[in-house]
Amino acid sequence: MIVTTKDLFQHAYGKYAIGAYNINNLEQIVGLFRGNLGKTVKNEDPTDSGKSAPFIIQISRGARSYTDKRFLEGLIRSADVVFPEAVFAVHLDHGTEDACYDCIDSGFYSSVMIDASHEEFAKNIEITKRVVDKARAKGIVVEAELGQLGGVEEDIVGSVKLTDPAQAAEFIEKTGVDSLAVAIGTSHGAFKFSGKQGLHFDVLEKIQQAVPKNFPLVMHGSSSVPKEWVARINNAGGKLKDASGVDEGQYLPAAKLGVTKINIDTDGRLVWCAIHREHFRDKPEDFDLRPAGKVFMEAYSAYIIHKNSVLGSSGQLEDVRKSLK
Ligand code: G3H
Ligand code: 13P
Ligand code: ZN
Repeated sequence: MIVTTKDLFQHAYGKYAIGAYNINNLEQIVGLFRGNLGKTVKNEDPTDSGKSAPFIIQISRGARSYTDKRFLEGLIRSADVVFPEAVFAVHLDHGTEDACYDCIDSGFYSSVMIDASHEEFAKNIEITKRVVDKARAKGIVVEAELGQLGGVEEDIVGSVKLTDPAQAAEFIEKTGVDSLAVAIGTSHGAFKFSGKQGLHFDVLEKIQQAVPKNFPLVMHGSSSVPKEWVARINNAGGKLKDASGVDEGQYLPAAKLGVTKINIDTDGRLVWCAIHREHFRDKPEDFDLRPAGKVFMEAYSAYIIHKNSVLGSSGQLEDVRKSLK
């Protein structure tokens, strides 16, 4: 069942974070749905309600143009039929104004992100407000971004600018946006920290105090870049030196301070890369795509189950469903 991110945030706020997972292909979609229903081995596995979680499936502009955006939409519609117990939002990740309008008009997305964080404050407000007005008319909710994470976001390369709490409050008031992505020390990709840095909880706390009560904050660049997966990639011929990510132990403390959506893309790519490298290293005679794809779907669903447990969303699905009635 497709719901809005707002529906999910109301239940989660202050208690746990909803995992927002980027997808690009069929295998990721199947692994993601299965993982969020606590299924691990075969398609016939029953849903494990102790592990089942609400989630956000997010599609970047790069994912939409990888083949044709209609393929991903079709696959997600099919997953909704194959996995009727799933409760999820369909979200455009890092949208431009045009991409947001395209998704709003499509009638498929329940949530869009307008990312004008690279613009001046006033311009960011102006663009975000236009998108909010169009989205609201169709019952779609909007995420915006204030501050700069650093690293690469889609095709924009930038330097770090932590979110200013007072500006965050003004931005929310002037745009009417439903949730706000804040820069508090994370960055996109597999190389987030050079040393022992982590999240700026002091800044996050000030943001939470400045914005309206129970206002959902979003944390981009939140992959944990697990050492285990990086080592598996490197042992199978990869060259990911000094990769590092967010400490998973920081997710729940961030959730308690209002972070309600946590974005994960890189970790899924690492799992994909490790599984495929290992498979073809160990079976050099194999050239069929399905055996590796099957191993990946299982590994990815197990990874999602793990991720949801550290986000605190595991086991929340039934309760969320009741809260929607
Ligand atoms: O924030 C960026 C996301 O990880 C999406 O990445 O634009 O390569 O699909 P992508
Ligand atoms: P990661 O690169 O840390 O997975 O972040 C993904 C993200 O923020 C997508 O918008
Ligand atoms: Zn992002």
